[in-house]
Amino acid sequence: MSERTMRAVTVREFGGPEVLTVEEVVRPEPLPTEVLVRVHAAGVNPVDWKTREGQGMAGLQTFPLTLGWDVSGVVEEVGFGVTTLAPGDEVYGMPWFPRAANAYAEYVTAPARQWARKPATIDHTHAAAVPLAALTAWQTVVDTARVQAGQRVLVTAAAGGVGHFAVQFARHLGAHVIAVASDARHRWLKELGADETIDYTTTRFEDVAHDVDVVIDLVGDAHDRTSTRSLKVLRPGGLLVAVPAGVSPELAQAAEAAGVRVTPYLVEPDGAALATIAGLIDAGEVDVEVEEPFPLERAGTAHTRVEAGRTRGKIVLTIAD
Ligand SMILES: NC(=O)c1ccc[n+]([C@@H]2O[C@H](COP(=O)([O-])OP(=O)(O)OC[C@H]3O[C@@H](n4cnc5c(N)ncnc54)[C@H](OP(=O)(O)O)[C@@H]3O)[C@@H](O)[C@H]2O)c1
Repeated sequence: MSERTMRAVTVREFGGPEVLTVEEVVRPEPLPTEVLVRVHAAGVNPVDWKTREGQGMAGLQTFPLTLGWDVSGVVEEVGFGVTTLAPGDEVYGMPWFPRAANAYAEYVTAPARQWARKPATIDHTHAAAVPLAALTAWQTVVDTARVQAGQRVLVTAAAGGVGHFAVQFARHLGAHVIAVASDARHRWLKELGADETIDYTTTRFEDVAHDVDVVIDLVGDAHDRTSTRSLKVLRPGGLLVAVPAGVSPELAQAAEAAGVRVTPYLVEPDGAALATIAGLIDAGEVDVEVEEPFPLERAGTAHTRVEAGRTRGKIVLTIAD
């Protein structure tokens, strides 16, 4: 029997956006406990271009490599033993991370329980914008920092993929949210629930923010020592979640000297959390912002856009109607 094929963005060596090329490759088959999903849209995240360049999760990948972890699509087939999903179900997920999920392709296979039902009120393009960014926001704000009503939460890069979800989840929990973003994003961030906004292009946030319980830092020390500067806004015993690059020995030492806590963090697949997040989206509690969708053939342009670091919400690849 001849193998079925599909289109996928394939990378054969690390490099710039030009190494992303659409090829015809073998379509995967679901193993027991897995589902085969027809991908309608795939989200683009900073880890995608970092991995393409040989950073990020590059050390865990093998060539030829298909990038991408965020998927929204429709179940095509289920493997033996799957009882929770059936062909025709609309699902979304961030399967396999940090192993390759091969999301920039027409089909993906992954364990059934790493998926959740897609939010019913948004299309696949918007649903594909959710998993990695929203799971990062959920797992930092809810699971790691355990944010409580009345606490003060500061989010850097608040206008980006993770940030716009972190602002909304913290607000949903009843926190007082301080969003750090350029001025053009402030009105929108207030609509999403930010109580205060700080323009990082004109103001050093540590000069105006204080007594913060939790900082979700999405910028990191590589840019203007943002993680280290975040320590100054925390109350004694407050928590910095250092999302982009973990905690260097210097940052750990500075946190200890300041009497505050700091933790690294890495996102994990979590179908149950995605089901909860879908409920919030369908209830109108959480908005999903897609700055621009690009067709699969323009994955390189999509990467260039995300790499520029100024995205409002998310960039998404559209693969099927
Ligand atoms: N550890 C993990 O598991 C994990 C998971 C997800 C993401 N990450 C990392 O977390 C970071 C954020 O991810 P993302 O997907 O949210 O990125 P993104 O969507 O590309 O972030 C873009 C946003 O960054 C903002 N920004 C850039 N420089 C800034 C600064 N100095 N201060 C405040 N905001 C600034 C921009 O805001 P303006 O438009 O207002 O300039 C833009 O809206 C990335 O480094 C990513 O790799 C790590």
